[in-house]
Amino acid sequence: MEQPREPAFVPPYPERFEVPPSLLTRVQLARHSFLAIWCKSDFTCDIASIKVLKREVAIINAPDLVKQAFQDNHPVLQRKSPQMRHALEPLLGDGLFVSDGEVWKARRKIVAPIIHGSKVPEFAPVMIQVMEEYRDRWAQMGDGAEIDALSEMAEMTAEVICRTIFGQNLGQAYAQEIVTGFSEFQRHVGQLDIPSMMNLPEWFPRLSGRRVRKATRRILSVLDEVIDRFVDERDKGDTSVIGALLDARDDDGKPLSRQIIRNEAAVIFMAGHETTANTLAWAWYLLSQSPAVRAKLELELDTVVGDRSVRFSDVAKLTYTRAITDETLRLYPPVPMLAREAMEDVTIGPQRFRKGSILMVVAWLLHRNPGLWPDADAFRPERFLDDKDPTKHRKPNKYAYVPFSTGPRICAGLIFGQTESILAVAVLGQKFRLELKPGTDVQPVCRLTLRPGDSLPMILWART
Ligand code: HEM
Repeated sequence: MEQPREPAFVPPYPERFEVPPSLLTRVQLARHSFLAIWCKSDFTCDIASIKVLKREVAIINAPDLVKQAFQDNHPVLQRKSPQMRHALEPLLGDGLFVSDGEVWKARRKIVAPIIHGSKVPEFAPVMIQVMEEYRDRWAQMGDGAEIDALSEMAEMTAEVICRTIFGQNLGQAYAQEIVTGFSEFQRHVGQLDIPSMMNLPEWFPRLSGRRVRKATRRILSVLDEVIDRFVDERDKGDTSVIGALLDARDDDGKPLSRQIIRNEAAVIFMAGHETTANTLAWAWYLLSQSPAVRAKLELELDTVVGDRSVRFSDVAKLTYTRAITDETLRLYPPVPMLAREAMEDVTIGPQRFRKGSILMVVAWLLHRNPGLWPDADAFRPERFLDDKDPTKHRKPNKYAYVPFSTGPRICAGLIFGQTESILAVAVLGQKFRLELKPGTDVQPVCRLTLRPGDSLPMILWART
């Protein structure tokens, strides 16, 4: 593997314990952020497990074991953890993201083609249009204007999803409503599912707080509006891609119920906007702290794109821009913890796990395992370039680099999200530099997703 060449920016991460903290300390820290609970040896271990209340909880942290867990043993380890299922259930019901077994299989068959990579060339001009609207709005704000890069990116990616998948404008007011709703949802949703850890049955009531219910209502009322508008437009002959949900039939030939359509629309909205938004927010932050990387990015944009509008065909040539987004996803994977519940007894590497055990591939650990990634905490996009020919992309090991997960449950919007991220860095980076607002302390916080805190104040400067 490539060796580090020059000192690079090391972005913030929570302090790591020298020796494993007590379970109680870990539980207390996890309430605020899952990133704060780890000790140094967690990053270097291949596999480790502890008993939490009545459940065995394991970390799988070596590529061959990740393959065993998520690829080879998918049938037994396809179920999301009870914590994830119960946290997201109010919002997604039995939607693809949280379902398993036959329901998951049937829904994946319906949802994956809607957002599949083969659709991306058709979506890209719409993505670029949305990004250019944001760019133009920023231009009107003038040099030195302050933005919250996190909410700007979230509103922009929500608009992208709405226009590409639902074939209609979301509009800034609704985009803000959705983005605030998701932020509120994450802030208040239960981070630890104590009843499940105590092996209490699935039907045991989990209380979702008043604020979670309020946030859920906020999001779902916008989604209902979008679906209603879509159904109206469709009756008038509109054929946007989400029509596939309305056209879909179950195995008995019956159309999907309104509830199922809403659940899957919520999955696409939730999975499809916040992840990309967080990636972009982190990318702007990392670029703002790494002048050498930003200079290389700007050189690439000036050479490949110049003054004209960015096009989809540029994506294949924007190798360094891609490396920046790849490296951002390595350091700050928006979904840093992939947790599964064993549906049967299963053996991974040397260890046998009982049915009900929780097995986790923690991208936060795997991506910073120094045995897999030299200079693991540093921001060095070059690690994703070919050593011999730096104009070429280097494909990482798909079991060591898992920002989109791996195996049959891999992100169904992978190409969509990757392309959108590259295009956004290109369209906005072509015209702007974003500087971190002086005095801002940026720290990664992980609840359901990994974000740079609640906001990311940045200052806009037009590139001259
Ligand atoms: C940078 C952007 C993105 C990242 C990092 C990302 C990451 C992920 C990850 C890690 C999972 C699996 C979660 C788990 O196993 O617990 C996932 C699932 C999923 N993602 Fe993405 N995603 C991104 C963008 C998108 C976009 C743009 C869409 C839709 C347009 C999308 C749709 C989905 C869906 C539907 C699933 C559920 C797949 C299943 O369970 O079968 N994602 N994503």
